[in-house]
Amino acid sequence: MNAVVVYQSKYGATKKYAQWIAESLSCDIKENKNLKAEVLLPYDTIIYGGGLYAESIAGVGLITKHLSLLEGKKLIVYTTGLTPVTCREYYDKLVAEKNFKGDSLSKIKVYHFPGRMFMNELSFVHKTAIKTLKKIISGKENPTEMEKLLLDLCDTEGDFTDKNALKNLLAYVSE
Ligand SMILES: Cc1cc2nc3c(=O)[nH]c(=O)nc-3n(C[C@H](O)[C@H](O)[C@H](O)COP(=O)(O)O)c2cc1C
Repeated sequence: MNAVVVYQSKYGATKKYAQWIAESLSCDIKENKNLKAEVLLPYDTIIYGGGLYAESIAGVGLITKHLSLLEGKKLIVYTTGLTPVTCREYYDKLVAEKNFKGDSLSKIKVYHFPGRMFMNELSFVHKTAIKTLKKIISGKENPTEMEKLLLDLCDTEGDFTDKNALKNLLAYVSE
């Protein structure tokens, strides 16, 4: 198997999963810093990981915007976020609709893994975004279930990364 894992990570969780995957598969690992899709051409299996930011998967356009170029390859995307992975409506609707247009999901297998967040590590812009979101939702008289969940997530701190979460992805790569 000729595989590569590519990641885009600001706070380290997505990078950690990429390193675990690369160790398990003994495959190449690359950081997505303005990578061109052409660098993926030598590989049969491409695993892309991106942190979730306001439902967007960081840098996933490297895969989703080049599906024709990557035709015939085994394509896998994983996300890293704080929303519990059991929250299927969030991942299967919001995240799917925002990141995967048309029939792209028929060509890409997607996995979701728990990430990490510590307020004192966040950039000024991210800290402000979280505080603003909290203020907006707290001011709502009748928040939706999704808004209540978001409010909880704004107050969540911890490192929830878990190597065992990779089991299904690794099994799929080997299929
Ligand atoms: C500004 C901001 C927005 C975020 N938005 C989401 C989100 O929409 N969904 C989610 O599940 N987690 C969200 N998170 C949590 C991140 O996905 C989590 O910190 C993850 O570990 C980021 O990946 P990284 O550590 O590789 O950068 C957000 C975090 C920040 C700071």
